[in-house]
This record gives sequence, C-alpha cells and structure tokens, in this order.
Amino acid sequence: MSSSKNVVIGLAGLGTVGSGLVQLLKDNAEEIEQRTGKKIFVKYVAVRNTNTKRDIPEGAKLIDNPLIMVDDPEVQVVVELMGGLGMADILIRQALEKGKSVVTANKALLAEKGEELFALAEEKNLSLAYEASVAGAIPVVQTLKDSLAGNKINTIFGILNGTSNYILSEMSAHGTEFGAALKTAQDLGFAEADPTLDIDGFDAAHKLKLLIRLAWGVHYPYEKLPVQGIRDMSAMDIAFARSLGYSIKLLGQASRVHEEIEAGVSPVLIPEKAMLARVDGAFNAIHINGNAVGSLFLHGLGAGSLPTASAVLGDIMSLMKDIYDSTGYVMEKLPLAPMANPDKTEAPWYLRLMVHDTVGVLRDIAGIFAKHSISIAQVIQKKKQEDGVPLVFMTHETSVRAMKDALHEIEATKILNCRPVAFRVLELV
Ligand SMILES: NC(=O)c1ccc[n+]([C@@H]2O[C@H](COP(=O)([O-])OP(=O)(O)OC[C@H]3O[C@@H](n4cnc5c(N)ncnc54)[C@H](OP(=O)(O)O)[C@@H]3O)[C@@H](O)[C@H]2O)c1
Repeated sequence: MSSSKNVVIGLAGLGTVGSGLVQLLKDNAEEIEQRTGKKIFVKYVAVRNTNTKRDIPEGAKLIDNPLIMVDDPEVQVVVELMGGLGMADILIRQALEKGKSVVTANKALLAEKGEELFALAEEKNLSLAYEASVAGAIPVVQTLKDSLAGNKINTIFGILNGTSNYILSEMSAHGTEFGAALKTAQDLGFAEADPTLDIDGFDAAHKLKLLIRLAWGVHYPYEKLPVQGIRDMSAMDIAFARSLGYSIKLLGQASRVHEEIEAGVSPVLIPEKAMLARVDGAFNAIHINGNAVGSLFLHGLGAGSLPTASAVLGDIMSLMKDIYDSTGYVMEKLPLAPMANPDKTEAPWYLRLMVHDTVGVLRDIAGIFAKHSISIAQVIQKKKQEDGVPLVFMTHETSVRAMKDALHEIEATKILNCRPVAFRVLELV
C-alpha cells in the first residue's frame, strides 16, 4: 500500500498502452525499485466500462470517472492513456491545477492543445511528460530535450507513422494496390477501423509539431503544417520509383533554413540505399542533424502495448527521481515559429503524367517546364497502360510554387488522362 517509499499514481485508460504499463509494473517491479529506490503504487485505474473483467494492479480501485483521482491528495502522478481531446484534456488540466505531475502518450491532444497545457505545467512547476507521444518506444523526446540540448538542430525528418509505413511496405513488396494493403493492415491489427489519422498524414503531423517544439523552442501551429497522406498512392508509382533506385516513404520533415522553419508531412522518394528507405513494416525511424553531433538515426517500434508502455514507464521513473524539468523549454510562452512559406521549399521532384498517345505531347510538356524554369534530370516513357502512356520525370531542384504552376498549366492543356502524381525526392548522402 501507499507509504513515503511509494509513488502513488492514478492511471486513466487500460487499453493497449495502459495494460502494457500494468504488465511492466508487475514484471519489472524489482528493477524499478533498484533504479529509483521507490515502489510505484497504482491507486486508481479509470476505464469507460467498469463491468468488463480487468487485470488491475493489487490494491487499485477501478473507476469510471477519471476525475476522482485528481481529487485524491495522495495521488502524485496522473498517467493519461485514454486518448482523445475531451476527457483527457480536462483530466490533465485538473491534475496540474491540483499539483500533480502528468505523464501522457496523447500526441493528438498535445499537438492541438499542448501549448496551454505546457504553460500550465510550467506555471505550476510540475512535469508534463510525453515521451510515448512521439514515435512510441523511440526515446526521441529525451534525446532532443537532454542529450542534444547543446546542439543547434539543423534538420529532423522521419517515418513517424507505422500504419502508413506498413501499407507502403506491403505495396512495395507485393505490388499490391493501396486498398488491399490497407485491408491487410487492418486484418493484422496494424490499422484502425477508421484509419484517417494515420493514412492522411495527421498522426505524423501531430508528432512533427512536437518535434519542432523540442528542436527549436517554437510554437508551430499544427493546423499550419502542410500535410499530404498516402490515400492516393498507386502501386505504379512505387514500382516506377523503384526502377529509378528509390523507395517511397511518408515523411515528416522539418529544417531550419535561413532562420525559418520549413516543415511538412508528405510522401517522399528516398534513395534505396539510405537507412531510412530500409525501415519497413510498422517501424518508425527519425534522422536528426545537429551542428555538433552531426547525424543521428533512431529506429524502433513506434507503437504497440509494451514498447509504448516502456516510454510511459521511463517518464514515470524520471519523475520519481525528482526531475521536474517539464516540457524541454523553460519559457513561459514559446515564440511563434518563423514559418517558411511552403511554396518556396525547393527539392528535386518525381512526376508521373499519364498522357494520350499522340505526337508532340513531350514537346508541349517540356515547353511548359521551361517556362517555369523547371530543369529535367531524367525522363522515361513507360509501356502504354489502360489509361494512357506514363511519362516519368525526375527534375532538378524546383520550388513547390513552380511545380504547382507548371502542373496546373499542363492539366489545363487536356493532354493528361488523369491527375498528375508529384512527390518530392529526398537527397541523402
Ligand atoms: N496504441 C499504441 O500503440 C499507441 C502508441 C503511441 C501512443 N498511443 C496513445 O496512447 C493513448 C492510448 O492509446 P490506446 O491505444 O491504449 O487506446 P485504447 O486501447 O483505445 O484504450 C483507451 C482506454 O481508455 C479508456 N477510456 C477512454 N475514454 C475514457 C473516459 N472518458 N473515461 C474513462 N476511461 C476512458 C478506455 O476504457 P474502456 O477499456 O472501458 O474502453 C480504454 O481502457 C492515445 O492517446 C494514443 O494516441 C498509443
């Protein structure tokens, strides 16, 4: 039971991550005590439905109103593993108001409403820890907050969503179309019944927003991040990219360019030899470049019961060692990020245009590219398909604006059979 040698926690949520945490608390109890000199006592477990049979820690009370734990003065740390933007938000606010530190895995809440919650934690001199919110088991929050604190961060990019990565890996390995690969992912439990957040890039954007905050100490409003998911991905483009020596991955990318933050989530072509291109299935990976450390590559499971609970438990144990350093930046209110205009971002591009099989098409397209100063590195005409002849272009560095304008003009000429496909190419050394 609770004593001064115990840290008393209230656990809200006993789903995938919550039950992983309960298992770790049991399996690793000895190591926890060795490392911190204390025991963890779970006083409450909150769930929606208390009638379902649950495996809860000895001595814990099962409740359906998570706010009960914030009214108990004995509870020192509230662990929020319910998800969502409603009750989770209320619980975290009330816990901080009442002097309790919080550990959460809720990236959606922190990305969308985090600034207020981080400010509240700082005002109260409490911790709001969130390692599990970004890339599950990968210790990237701690890495940016502590290990790399002495660096100026130049770039961060990575595969931040395991579901999308699993789907793209399936499409690449078996030539499957998107719909079939999504179904396999759902059947195997790698994708939710409603996969919108994952496949449309929003989950990766939630994590990218938090990474930008950690890397540069700025508030980049989540809703301003340009986001493109993989819903329209075609097996044809994955095969064409492969024939050119590239893999397609859904990347979250952020760089500091001339004092501005260039950031966004989109499918990107990555050279097949790069480590990032070889991150397959449900894995996540993050590449960080700092002015002192050079390049770092973190790789691991971005989700799952025990891997995510491992990050949650690490945060709880840090709190037990009395580390109350809150959110990684000690500023009352972070300045707004100097957001680069996404249209000015420059990159080489992969383009696939499905054209009618007529004379002069290539000349017309080349003319439009020239007008917009787009320089072609490679052009390949692929075998005729049912819906036209695929023309695949690799360009030299071109701005998003020039590419959008050129594609708009090409579409207006009616020489295309369907919408053009355009992905940026990531050049890695
Ligand atoms: N799953 C992962 O691998 C993973 C990875 C990284 C981060 N996360 C984040 O971790 C959090 C939890 O995810 P999860 O996958 O563990 O979710 P989950 O399996 O859906 O579990 C949610 C739990 O919260 C309880 N709950 C929900 N609303 C509640 C309310 N209003 N009052 C009381 N209890 C409530 C549910 O109760 P019932 O059991 O009665 O339904 C359930 O036990 C989310 O923020 C998620 O984004 C998850």
